Amino acid sequence: MSEGCVKAIYPGSFDPPTLGHLDITRRAQQIFGRLTVAILRNPRKSSCFDALERKEMFEEAIREAAIPGVEVVAFEGLLVDFAKKQNSRVIVRGLRAISDYEYELELAQMNRRLLPQLETVFLTPGEELSYLSSRLVREIAQFGGDVSGLVPRAVLSRLTRRFASEAEGGGGRA
Ligand code: PNS
Repeated sequence: MSEGCVKAIYPGSFDPPTLGHLDITRRAQQIFGRLTVAILRNPRKSSCFDALERKEMFEEAIREAAIPGVEVVAFEGLLVDFAKKQNSRVIVRGLRAISDYEYELELAQMNRRLLPQLETVFLTPGEELSYLSSRLVREIAQFGGDVSGLVPRAVLSRLTRRFASEAEGGGGRA
């Protein structure tokens, strides 16, 4: 690891992580060397997978893809407070299409207002992944559609189990 490299944070809900998220992770790590994937744990918002499951899936995917220098953590509260604790001044966000831009600009400008030295850097995923979102993956998997090729292997097996157990009335989350 090179001395003086900038530690960056890649935050998100990642519910679940997709190949698009993994692609951004790889690109960010190649630029910054060290990267923290920060998974939002939001007790007020229901999620398909809890924060621990999302963390485990992301870790497995990173291991499988052999991306070095990345840690995965769950965080609660404001991103700027987490960035301060991590001693990081770079936030990485993926930008897929122009439709992402308004929301992303809002986040970036508000985070800058809260912590002026925090910079947000946008990276674009590979073109073939630019239509991909966690929301669509959840929806397709929920109705038994094929999401292989859209998510890492670790995510595929958990999605299959989650929705199979729901179909059997096994008590998965909404
Ligand atoms: O994957 P998402 O849901 O688009 O990620 C959004 C996320 C987690 C980056 C954003 O909601 C966030 O940073 N939440 C933490 C709370 C916070 O800092 N809110 C103010 C943002 S200006």
